[in-house]
Amino acid sequence: MAGKIKTVYVCQECGYESPKWMGQCPNCNEWNTLEEEVIADKKAAVGTMSSSAVKKVITSVKTLSQINYTDEERYFTNINELDRVLGGGIVKGSVVLLSGDPGIGKSTILLQMCESMRNSLNILYVSGEESAVQIKLRAKRLGVDGNNVTIMTETDTQAICEYIMAQKPDLVMIDSIQTLHINELSSSAGSIVQVRESTNMLLRTGKSLEIPIFIVGHVNKGGDIAGPKVLEHIVDTVLYFEGERNQSYRILRAIKNRFGSTNEIGVFEMRDTGLCEVENPSAMLLSGRMSNVSGACITCVIEGTRPILSEVQALVTTTGFGNPRRMSNGFDYNRLNLLLAILEKRQGLYFSNLDTYLNVVGGMRLDEPACDLAVCMALVSGLRDTPLNEKLIAFGEVGLSGEIRSVSRVQARVNEAARLGFTACVLPRSSIKQITNKPEGIELIGVKNIKEALEIIKKG
Ligand SMILES: Nc1ncnc2c1ncn2[C@@H]1O[C@H](COP(=O)(O)OP(=O)(O)O)[C@@H](O)[C@H]1O
Ligand SMILES: [Mg+2]
Ligand SMILES: [Zn+2]
Repeated sequence: MAGKIKTVYVCQECGYESPKWMGQCPNCNEWNTLEEEVIADKKAAVGTMSSSAVKKVITSVKTLSQINYTDEERYFTNINELDRVLGGGIVKGSVVLLSGDPGIGKSTILLQMCESMRNSLNILYVSGEESAVQIKLRAKRLGVDGNNVTIMTETDTQAICEYIMAQKPDLVMIDSIQTLHINELSSSAGSIVQVRESTNMLLRTGKSLEIPIFIVGHVNKGGDIAGPKVLEHIVDTVLYFEGERNQSYRILRAIKNRFGSTNEIGVFEMRDTGLCEVENPSAMLLSGRMSNVSGACITCVIEGTRPILSEVQALVTTTGFGNPRRMSNGFDYNRLNLLLAILEKRQGLYFSNLDTYLNVVGGMRLDEPACDLAVCMALVSGLRDTPLNEKLIAFGEVGLSGEIRSVSRVQARVNEAARLGFTACVLPRSSIKQITNKPEGIELIGVKNIKEALEIIKKG
């Protein structure tokens, strides 16, 4: 039964649908984002399922114990940093959304995957952004041989899916979803309806044949994935590439993963020859550090399974205008205000007529409470203009009464600090007993409250 055609107005930011046009989206409050889309009325088909179709549904039902699986449910990309973020390779039939700013390296990593998986898999690379020759040039620069890769410069989703059904490649890459379109939909490529329906069509095709699909999705001005939250809900895994454009390292993060932890990060460096894995991120993040400056403190965070050292910097200056400015980069802004309030109330350190800027070096985001202590020490070091011992690291959660609370994985953090040549570690006193095997050459300074920790700054 042919569906009725109807018109709706869809917010291009958040996907909100309205039967009539409005100037402002009531869902996300953006202005002028509603655009007219024509969709086939799917509801017309509901309730008309034939009895044979019902029978088919019933026979496809199994108990959990009847479902068989083999161990070989994942493909390894052989790029360790990527495999780890994916939760141990690519799950067959999964759909992975790869997102990030333009020029960050999405197309690059896909081509490099083609190379690293060339012994085992036939790959279909669909590009709507670059011509075949452009892809070839890039492949040449990256040293990708490409015997196993079929390049398709097609933007019609239906045609792509038909090709996948006929050829059954082992892995499909779509670069990018914003360039695809479905002919029956009247809206232009890149609009939310096109992006959503194209993804749905690819997803059905991939799932039915157990073919994993990587989809590149661009981000919009606000940093969200364009054609946005809707996509995150549909796909199995969302990977996000981060990094400063003018710096060479890139951090790959899983925002959502149905098949693994979302805490893991992969660290890469962009070189002429493509993205190289960084096996020792701590050393990379600490390179180029200045010695003997006030307002800097090193901490150790656990990212997934790995401890990583990173530097917290604070700049504290006199306020030029009435209201003091506070800025935080890589650390939660409200948490910063909370820590400033604790320092003020418990230690009598007044920041209220001072501008305070906090920065985490290297584009890292510290969202573990274990970073609190290092943030406080950086702030106070900046306030007093007294540098910390540069071979010192600090971690611990700061409670509202100024107490330093214990954190997890203490042994791993201390080991990482010792490995990189640090000689002193300030940590919660209650955590010291977790250390069963103290590494050589590092002094453990257990502190009970913020007062004890700040005394270390005085000593320098
Ligand atoms: N000829 C080149 N030599 C060295 N690096 C290059 C060259 N061309 C592109 N790059 C690097 O590759 C990046 C482009 O990555 P790309 O994978 O195309 O990004 P995305 O697909 O995410 O937009 C550029 O930002 C640049 O750093
Ligand atoms: Mg690209
Ligand atoms: Zn909206």
